Amino acid sequence: MMECSWKVLVLIVFTSLGIQYTAIKSLRMTFTSPCRNMAAENRCGHIKDNVTRALCEDVNGQQGRKHILILATARSGSSFLGQLFNQNPDIFYLYEPLYHVQNMFTNSNGLPTIDRRSLLGAYRDLLHNLYDCDFHLLENYIKPTPKDHVTYSFFRRGASKALCTPPVCNQLEDFQQESQCVKKCRKVNLTLASTACRSYRTMAIKTIRIPEINHMRTLVEDPRLNLKIIHLVRDPRAVLASRMSTFVDQYRSYNIWNSSGRKPHSIDLSLIRNVCIDYSNSLETAFGRPSWLKGKYMLVRYEDLARDPMKKATNIYNFIGLQWKEGLSSWIEENTNATVSPNSSKFATNRKSSETVENWRFQLHLGIVQMVQDICNTTISQLGYQFVDSTQQLRNLSQSLVEPRVFLPFI
Ligand SMILES: *[C@@H]1O[C@H](CO)[C@@H](O)[C@H](O)[C@H]1NC(C)=O
Ligand SMILES: *[C@@H]1O[C@H](CO)[C@@H](O)[C@H](O)[C@H]1NC(C)=O
Ligand SMILES: *[C@@H]1O[C@H](CO)[C@@H](O)[C@H](O)[C@H]1NC(C)=O
Ligand SMILES: *[C@@H]1O[C@H](CO)[C@@H](O)[C@H](O)[C@H]1NC(C)=O
Ligand SMILES: *[C@@H]1O[C@H](CO)[C@@H](O)[C@H](O)[C@H]1NC(C)=O
Ligand SMILES: *[C@@H]1O[C@H](CO)[C@@H](O)[C@H](O)[C@H]1NC(C)=O
Ligand SMILES: *[C@@H]1O[C@H](CO)[C@@H](O)[C@H](O)[C@H]1NC(C)=O
Repeated sequence: MMECSWKVLVLIVFTSLGIQYTAIKSLRMTFTSPCRNMAAENRCGHIKDNVTRALCEDVNGQQGRKHILILATARSGSSFLGQLFNQNPDIFYLYEPLYHVQNMFTNSNGLPTIDRRSLLGAYRDLLHNLYDCDFHLLENYIKPTPKDHVTYSFFRRGASKALCTPPVCNQLEDFQQESQCVKKCRKVNLTLASTACRSYRTMAIKTIRIPEINHMRTLVEDPRLNLKIIHLVRDPRAVLASRMSTFVDQYRSYNIWNSSGRKPHSIDLSLIRNVCIDYSNSLETAFGRPSWLKGKYMLVRYEDLARDPMKKATNIYNFIGLQWKEGLSSWIEENTNATVSPNSSKFATNRKSSETVENWRFQLHLGIVQMVQDICNTTISQLGYQFVDSTQQLRNLSQSLVEPRVFLPFI
């Protein structure tokens, strides 16, 4: 016990000297084993001073703040997965805050104005700040520049419940829809957002802008962050089908191929190849079980989530060590069992998920499917999806293309 408290004291001195990261890390290593094996509560409970105790609990993980990163790719079901966190009133959830960084470093032709490495660095820095509930760095990326820490241009603010409810927005009695929030709340006072953020013990951020888990290594290794990554993947053939109907312009040549049945001469295959390269690079790292990912990483196939959302959501909550909230069950029930409304937006999550998950099999010409299978051969096998070699096989839903596989989190 004494052992623990003096180390925490030393820690505070070090922290205030600004020698933060390495000091915390090395001190954490020196915690003696009887101390380390106690639950953080017992370990830190005897400390009288609240701040010191909070720091003790923080450094020791479990009882401190929890930070979650949903790492996904466009059109892989990440909005839905994000909702499992957004709908939980104990979680401060942000939807794609990295959009602002990407937007800042993209020219009018849609091309990046800085190199990939710098962009990834900027992403990491912003994430770190946001997890600390510091929104100042974000202000530098919002266009137009916020005035007096107030902005009307916070990307998809309505997708974040915490930004649509008090204290950030007091205009809504019962927040239901994103559009309603945007209309009624209008501005975001980032000072208020930051204060609100600090009152939550769990923060979740969703992003489709980080290509691989390897890019998150320095954040995962930072003991102050207590970061857990939920890596969402989806059958690349389904990802492509969804993108073709969502990003019609960008995927024009794919759509021509789909409707004509003939492969166009000029087609940018990197659009789909990159998805698979990113998946495979992440999976190779994860399957190798490096120590830095221990207890920090969970792979989720969207298909498993869509088929049995309640079960998968429970698995995810258990892995993170989050308490289940009553309202989540009814939210899942309402949003995965609904009949598809013709009015539902492309980004809506309200669909009968178990049925729509294999819809792509009716949306792609066999030639496109085979092209993806060639390019993504390794990735498709790694994730346990099955290949098809005829249209008949492709369209026959009584034969699932999703092999039952359990990807146990590495703990
Ligand atoms: C410390 O925490 C306890 C219990 O959470 C609370 O009653 C007390 O007022 C806090 N003390 C200070 C100085 O904040
Ligand atoms: C933003 O919120 C802070 C904290 O409540 C407040 O002091 C400030 O006046 C607000 N700014 C504006 C422009 O409303
Ligand atoms: C959806 O509804 C069916 C039948 O009413 C029920 O068996 C199933 O458990 C529900 N699924 C979810 C995820 O709530
Ligand atoms: C769908 O949109 C149409 C036209 O905008 C509207 O008349 C109809 O009531 C909407 N249906 C639902 C279920 O919202
Ligand atoms: C591809 O073409 C088929 C048949 O013309 C069509 O039903 C389907 O919606 C198209 N797929 C996409 C992704 O647009
Ligand atoms: C994937 O690639 C491997 C090695 O190149 C090959 O043996 C296998 O047949 C391929 N599978 C498919 C479905 O193309
Ligand atoms: C569809 O697949 C099932 C199961 O593999 C098979 O028994 C059935 O004959 C197939 N139907 C057609 C039309 O190919």
